[in-house]
Amino acid sequence: MANILVTGGAGYIGSHACKALAAAGHIPVTFDNLVTGWRDAVKFGPFVQGDLLNRAEIDAAFEQYQPVAVMHFAALSQVGDSMKQPGTYWRNNVEGSLNLIEATVAAGCKHFVFSSTCATYGDQDNVVLDENSAQHPINAYGASKRAIEDILRDFEAAYGLQSVIFRYFNVAGADPEGEVGEFHQPETHLIPLMLDAIDGKRDALTIFGTDYDTPDGTCIRDYVHVCDLVDAHVLGLNWLREDKGSRVFNLGTGTGFSVREVVEHSREVTNRAVPMTEGDRRPGDCTKLVSGSVRAETELGWRPTRSTLQQMITDAWRWHQTGHYSA
Ligand code: UFG
Repeated sequence: MANILVTGGAGYIGSHACKALAAAGHIPVTFDNLVTGWRDAVKFGPFVQGDLLNRAEIDAAFEQYQPVAVMHFAALSQVGDSMKQPGTYWRNNVEGSLNLIEATVAAGCKHFVFSSTCATYGDQDNVVLDENSAQHPINAYGASKRAIEDILRDFEAAYGLQSVIFRYFNVAGADPEGEVGEFHQPETHLIPLMLDAIDGKRDALTIFGTDYDTPDGTCIRDYVHVCDLVDAHVLGLNWLREDKGSRVFNLGTGTGFSVREVVEHSREVTNRAVPMTEGDRRPGDCTKLVSGSVRAETELGWRPTRSTLQQMITDAWRWHQTGHYSA
């Protein structure tokens, strides 16, 4: 049993990762400032309320828990929002990560798993997005994540810090056992917003842009189930602990769905109409983001089992109807 420091462990993906880590015999120590996370979501190990912008709080967590590895999920992660307040994104994501990476090295911890994003690739027409693709982000969120990848490379060269960098495509779904799920305040993501609209909890879903160069005019994304995604993190941790060295992995399924296709699947899964309107494009949105890599499967042995759109929406719908956090 070893402690793993999980930043953002009170958030959507981090909380699912804590569950997977505990199931694999680790002790996830959540470090979270609760700005976008939920205390109720911390169920599988100790909790430290702390801020990555405060180096002393990070050092204290290392001192107390002596983690053998770090999983770094904590970040501001909304593409649209990052275009409105880029300074906040750069400061929180890059400065916070730099503090964490420096603290990791100072504590003598050598293994770091980082949540990056396909948003680092940007809009690349007709290019298969694999781990060697050029990274030209078109929004501040993606740019901040690319910068953190660069920091990790420099810290490996200087101090030998080994990292597994996961570039997520669009994460969806929820724990099928309903212990944790997706809950953002405010919510901006397509699937939970749509389920709210279906349920009458908010107004109609607005489709952001119907004039993209795609078959039905709406953006295309590669959706991956959060439980499959966090399983890859446990494999990534094993990879580092087996001294296999730093590596980048895309986490997507290789299948893209347009916004209209996601709406249609949601209608089928819930058997209810989806109230929706058509609106302008959202600044910072890429036309199409679909993974073209099987590296995680071939090298890590990752086997996604729940990442069909139907399963993701089914699990999200169950959580939507039964799960919630209060504080
Ligand atoms: N969309 C709508 N209406 C909405 C919300 C979203 O049409 O009300 C569309 C978006 O324009 C986009 C698609 O649905 O085309 C998916 O949007 P999300 O906001 O759910 O997700 P993003 O693709 O913007 O971003 C998400 C994460 C990022 C991550 C990225 C990788 O929020 O952290 O996936 O693609 F980097």
